Amino acid sequence: MNQLEIILAKNNFTLEEIVYLLQTRGAEQAFLHAKAEALKLETIGNRVHLRGLIEYSNRCSKNCYYCGIRMANKHVERYVVSDEEVVDAAIFAYKNKYGSLVLQAGECSDNAYILHIENLLKKIMQVSNGELGITLSLGEQSRDTYKRWKEAGATRYLLRIEASNKELYEKLHPANHSYEKRLRCLYELQDLNYQVGTGVMIGLPFQSTIDLANDLLFFKSFDIDMVGMGPYIEHKETPLYAECKQLLSHEERYQLSLNMIAVLRLMMPYINMAASTAMGSIVEGGREAAIRVGANILMPNITPFKYRENYFLYDGKICIEESQEDDLVNLKALVSRAGSTLGWDEHGDSKHYWHKQNI
Ligand code: 5AD
Ligand code: SF4
Repeated sequence: MNQLEIILAKNNFTLEEIVYLLQTRGAEQAFLHAKAEALKLETIGNRVHLRGLIEYSNRCSKNCYYCGIRMANKHVERYVVSDEEVVDAAIFAYKNKYGSLVLQAGECSDNAYILHIENLLKKIMQVSNGELGITLSLGEQSRDTYKRWKEAGATRYLLRIEASNKELYEKLHPANHSYEKRLRCLYELQDLNYQVGTGVMIGLPFQSTIDLANDLLFFKSFDIDMVGMGPYIEHKETPLYAECKQLLSHEERYQLSLNMIAVLRLMMPYINMAASTAMGSIVEGGREAAIRVGANILMPNITPFKYRENYFLYDGKICIEESQEDDLVNLKALVSRAGSTLGWDEHGDSKHYWHKQNI
């Protein structure tokens, strides 16, 4: 057996082995991808689940150096989707058998906002007979807020760690953002029995392959249920753009992202893993490739079109124009190109989560 086969025959990879796997290209990379695809089919099958994504608001009290909708970016026209439009989007997702939706926004934590979300969750539950799975992606909040939102109907929460290396995290965020707080939030979400998702950006300035390998070990040791990760894509109106000369090419970030997905699927066979919008934005066909190598979740954008150009996290984000990238016909074609089928009308819960509950 060659070195790659020896590594892949194991079920626990060391840091050095993960680094090796992440760096494979050509025939070795194809072999890694085929292994990950085969394991996915064996464990969670070939169904891809949908989460209708509502980009609820681009108001944000944070200033992450990489993000286009950071508070300090004055060129952004701020919006909040009306309750009526959210409810309409939820009904659309329900009627079209998406099975679940994600409510995502920048970070706000004033009392009025917290209450507003709580009531909105109750409305969504009502119009979907409590059948739509609801995921929140609304940033760092207090334990009490997470608890209230869970009681109002949310079952899953996405909060990316962005970079699990504290030093790297601190290079990507201003001093008033706290790595410890982010970790605490993840623990609290887990403790409240949410299905918890996290993730990182891939190909960031100052990030090494060792950092990425450690990110994967972090997901494993945290026993995470869901992961959404994708390439970092620069945005001109952000401080991190100053570092764009030291970035890997888009193609390299894309290849590295595919390998991250494949290796994580081998490490955590039962988790849910998204084929992120950033994967589809950096390379055409990126989302189907992500599904091929291990992802099993798609998050079609169902935000009303008039808001989409204002949720501009990075340059070249797809599904902004009134194109049909995320309509149902196209999604079906995308998934079938990836050799998979759509899991209609199912929550598509993380099997990893349920395995943990049944221990
Ligand atoms: N490139 C890629 N992903 C980004 N995000 C924010 N800015 C960028 C960017 N420039 C991701 C972050 C955040 C999610 C909502 O979007 O990981 O958690
Ligand atoms: Fe706000 Fe999230 Fe963007 Fe950070 S990544 S600035 S918290 S929307």
